[in-house]
Amino acid sequence: MPKMSFPTPAQLDAMAEEERGLIEVRRAKGPDPNSALVWFPPIQAAALPVPRTMFVEYNPMSLWPICDGQEPLPDFPVEKLKETAAQMGYPVFVRTDLASAKHDGPKSYRADSEEDLLRCICRTFEDNAMKSIVDSTRCWMFREFLSIGHSFTGFSGLPIGKEWRFFADQDGVKCHHFYWPEQAFERGFGVPEDWREKLEVLSMEPDADTLGTLSAMALKAVQAIGEHCWSVDFAQDEAGKWWLIDMARAESSWHPKHK
Ligand SMILES: Nc1ncnc2c1ncn2[C@@H]1O[C@H](COP(=O)(O)OP(=O)(O)O)[C@@H](O)[C@H]1O
Ligand SMILES: [Mg+2]
Repeated sequence: MPKMSFPTPAQLDAMAEEERGLIEVRRAKGPDPNSALVWFPPIQAAALPVPRTMFVEYNPMSLWPICDGQEPLPDFPVEKLKETAAQMGYPVFVRTDLASAKHDGPKSYRADSEEDLLRCICRTFEDNAMKSIVDSTRCWMFREFLSIGHSFTGFSGLPIGKEWRFFADQDGVKCHHFYWPEQAFERGFGVPEDWREKLEVLSMEPDADTLGTLSAMALKAVQAIGEHCWSVDFAQDEAGKWWLIDMARAESSWHPKHK
């Protein structure tokens, strides 16, 4: 086998510099197509039922040092983040414009205080870094915390409830399915023994009226954006109200079952 030599520190610095250059070029082109900065403003303007939401812009470069046990860089907007969360009112649901750290449970997305807020931000940043999307994030997205109706929790406490994903383009709704696949829970991760039965009940089709309402809202959301095919996710809260909570461009969220 040919002998592999490790890059020298100077070579590593050069590689990091080149990577930073590529990231800057990409960022200059605007938000990632899946960014909530793209889909949220039009659907809010269309008066769809979305949780109260606030954004705080940042540059992910300013937070990378935390992954190395260091403090964030001085341009990390810590005061603005604290002010915005206080303005929103705790508890706050924390995510970036691209994703939450939902599979890590509420300790990574539910902030009940300023102290929790910084922990959620750090854990979410690390989560997005592991998903290799963090350099494409542009902002923190704080949302009014919803009580999702649920019959069990998974992933260290994430409520598993009635969530449905619709796919729609400008012409109409293409299909819909229950959000949580069985495979998500098969490895355990703190789910109760009877999770399969509970999931089966949760995944029963809503009645025709509800499906009609959700379909109409999915189409309205996609038409408010005005182009492309999207996945549109709805979740039902404990009071029975349906909320539009997440969207993604269809090519990145196409369910295997629809391939
Ligand atoms: N405002 C909220 N309050 C409470 N739970 C939420 C809220 N928004 C989303 N959730 C829950 O967290 C999960 C992940 O949130 P979401 O915004 O869809 O991010 P992700 O990109 O990680 O899917 C949702 O599927 C839902 O169960
Ligand atoms: Mg989601």
